[in-house]
Amino acid sequence: MSQDKAKVAGLDRVLVVEVARVTEAAAIAAARFRGMGNAKGADKAAVDAMRKELGKIHIRGKVVIGEGEMDEAPMLYIGEEVGIGDGPQVDIAVDPLEGTTICAKDMPNALAVIAVAERGGLLHAPDMYMDKIAIGPGYPDGIIDLDTPIAEQLQKLANAKGVPVDQISACVLDRPRHAEIIEAVRKVGAGIRLIPDGDIAGVIWCTDPQQTGIDIYLGSGGAPEGVLAAAALRCIGGQMQGRLKPSNREEIERAAKMGIPDINRKFSMQEMASGDVIFSATGVTSGSILEGVHFRGDFAETETLVMRSATGTVRRIKTTFRNVKMKMAGV
Ligand code: FBP
Repeated sequence: MSQDKAKVAGLDRVLVVEVARVTEAAAIAAARFRGMGNAKGADKAAVDAMRKELGKIHIRGKVVIGEGEMDEAPMLYIGEEVGIGDGPQVDIAVDPLEGTTICAKDMPNALAVIAVAERGGLLHAPDMYMDKIAIGPGYPDGIIDLDTPIAEQLQKLANAKGVPVDQISACVLDRPRHAEIIEAVRKVGAGIRLIPDGDIAGVIWCTDPQQTGIDIYLGSGGAPEGVLAAAALRCIGGQMQGRLKPSNREEIERAAKMGIPDINRKFSMQEMASGDVIFSATGVTSGSILEGVHFRGDFAETETLVMRSATGTVRRIKTTFRNVKMKMAGV
């Protein structure tokens, strides 16, 4: 095959490894704080490390989902330019530590997460709640809808999967606001995994029900996490819808300012993450998707899931860092 034919349009494939390095660095930094009850410290360490690593990549990157507005966050704020400043123009969504509380308590599934897309490819979602529904690949298009009653939705999914509804399992964040969803799922006899935090992992679980036991993600969580989850699904396959769930008028105005005038709009996975997208997540604490960071003397081992939508390639990278002190110092 000629080089031209082998080339896939979109981002440079070399970027995939560079992006994986970014979440590796953030995960190692955050992992030092596991179980220390210091969610803020862990998050700050991950943010610092992620920003430092982004600064080594040949991109003209703009943070579209980050740690907050310019006046709220010193680093990785929305609109911040990152990267060396040459190379492709890309939009970046970051969650340097997804699951700050679970990291502080050393519980499963804390991740360092990033999505990099062609400029304009990521929804500029404000930091507020979003209602989410997601399933993995292999179902007919349009089978999920945020407005379908839960019982009907689960039955539809069960029919498409060819199983009784009591063999369907949903993942839901364990929050009082989800009481109605939980009741509706239980009423039809389907199972629920209630998670304390970390809904990006919850959405990713839907992509491999045989392994994870989860068929569908339901409920509200952070809108930024929703966009990151959509970016992951774009690469692995699946379907997702998200709709902003503002808590007050200020949030509605904020969404309009960020380019979403219709607060009731349902966004599809493709509307949240379009074009060529690279998604990378590295485990901070061990969970069912990824191993957490293992420290062995001067060594650190990480596990990363990195994937690209243009090719659908999913890589699992185990990396050993030989001098972790240098790594922590950003050398
Ligand atoms: P943090 O990493 O910011 O702590 O977020 C964890 C998380 O569980 C997300 O995965 C989820 O989208 C969001 O918080 C849910 O928000 P809330 O805790 O307010 O229900």
